Amino acid sequence: MAEEKKQPNPKGNNKNDIIMTIASKRGFFYPSAEIYGAKAGFWTYGHLGTRLKHGWENLWRNFFLGLSKSYFEIDDCNIMPKKVFEGSGHLKHFNDPLTECSKCHFRFRADQLIEDAMHTNVGGLDENALTKLIDDNKLLCPRCGSNLMHVRWFNMMFEMKVGATGEDIMYLRPESAQSPYLAFKREFEALRKKIPFGLAVIGKAFRNEISPRQGFFRLREFTQAELQIFFDPDKINEAENWDFVKNYKLRLCLAKDLKEEKITEITCEEANKELKIPKFYAYNMAKVQQFYLEILGMPAEKFRLRELDEKERAFYNKLHFDIELNMDTLGGFKEVAGVHYRTNHDLGGHQECSGENLEVVIGDKRFIPHVLELSFGVDRNVWALMDLFYKEETERTLFTFPASVAPIEVAVYPLVNKDNIPEYSNEVYERLGKEFKVFMDDSGSIGRRYRRQDEIGTPFGVTIDYDSLNDNTATLRDRDSMKQVRVNVNDLIPKLKKIIAKELEFEKAGTLVVKAAKEE
Ligand code: GLY
Repeated sequence: MAEEKKQPNPKGNNKNDIIMTIASKRGFFYPSAEIYGAKAGFWTYGHLGTRLKHGWENLWRNFFLGLSKSYFEIDDCNIMPKKVFEGSGHLKHFNDPLTECSKCHFRFRADQLIEDAMHTNVGGLDENALTKLIDDNKLLCPRCGSNLMHVRWFNMMFEMKVGATGEDIMYLRPESAQSPYLAFKREFEALRKKIPFGLAVIGKAFRNEISPRQGFFRLREFTQAELQIFFDPDKINEAENWDFVKNYKLRLCLAKDLKEEKITEITCEEANKELKIPKFYAYNMAKVQQFYLEILGMPAEKFRLRELDEKERAFYNKLHFDIELNMDTLGGFKEVAGVHYRTNHDLGGHQECSGENLEVVIGDKRFIPHVLELSFGVDRNVWALMDLFYKEETERTLFTFPASVAPIEVAVYPLVNKDNIPEYSNEVYERLGKEFKVFMDDSGSIGRRYRRQDEIGTPFGVTIDYDSLNDNTATLRDRDSMKQVRVNVNDLIPKLKKIIAKELEFEKAGTLVVKAAKEE
């Protein structure tokens, strides 16, 4: 089967190219094994990207595991027995529609090929309907112009032979979610035996995408951060902390409004009463929205919770809203996460397939818990950080990352490399390094160093100069405003902490020495 050799350049628009260039040049991410020509859908995180990713993962972990005392985290294998995916339904249902050129035998994702040619959404159509669309509209192979073959389903899991006989078939997990389902019984027994009970995984998943496009956004090996919440289905219309969210406004794009891209801003209480969205589900939607708007500080207008109708949603979901962010680099709203009501599909399937009883007994009631899943594509979220926080100004480009995810929080700049300034700078670097992610940037002019750190999103810089040696002060620079204040070195850590926590205005952290960019 012919297959593309190079990583496609998603969209090819300017912002995308600029971000890709910075990402590969500065060490955020680049195609894996690129010296051998790289395969589409596989990427390496460089040192800055690894930190950015870990920063996002830590925020996610702290926020979502902090929602309940009964939410915990596990870690699991990527390779799982075939039976798991019989129980989960992936062997039967986890398919993408594929069409093949009758002459050059290049394979295409049929729905994408039709959508590209006809500019219409064909999500949810079966193989016959897709084939009919190809035939009726005389769509041909985009590579050689020959006829396309009947659409068929292609299972997206990577199969592998384990052991010496080659008879033991296993699969790379296509979603991290299966791990908590398999671990549920043990963890529930070992922990609090209370529901709602949550098990999170941050780990790899693998999908054999037919032709991954959109560069870093659609990967064959990727990281997911998923929280599986096991709950009593009779209590789906209850949420312990409902009062905290009931007046919180959700930004919904309902399935009926997708064409017009209309946003309905509606409180959780209204969503529950008018749209019949159960309280437990609406509560979790609110928490996900708060994570994006309040913890990550993304602009509200870039965020929506998009409802998927029955045809579009995954085979295991009864209620499904995607979290979509509006990204210039991808030409509009794209999915970065999802809130899925998976019912008892998973535990029920595994109970039947394994013969293991996965019911719980709460009081005098025995039942299979239902699952509400909060599912996030970590790499997609990393790309979203780069898209949404990228800024161009006359003199510079920058990422305005929040300090909590920035790969480097504080850069230390010795003004010159002599006269005891490097030694003093090292001391400051060591002290700051106990609390923050720090970087010593000591080459080139100070202006170039500022631009270099702006380009990778470092929110703060500390410049050590001759005055520092005399009065123990340093210049603290703010990336976004480019303002600079003079601060006693002993106060740097507490002041930076307060600035990051938004308890102290940058300008009030010390004596203002540079008020605006042009003074730098
Ligand atoms: N676990 C849900 C998903 O992978 O989309």
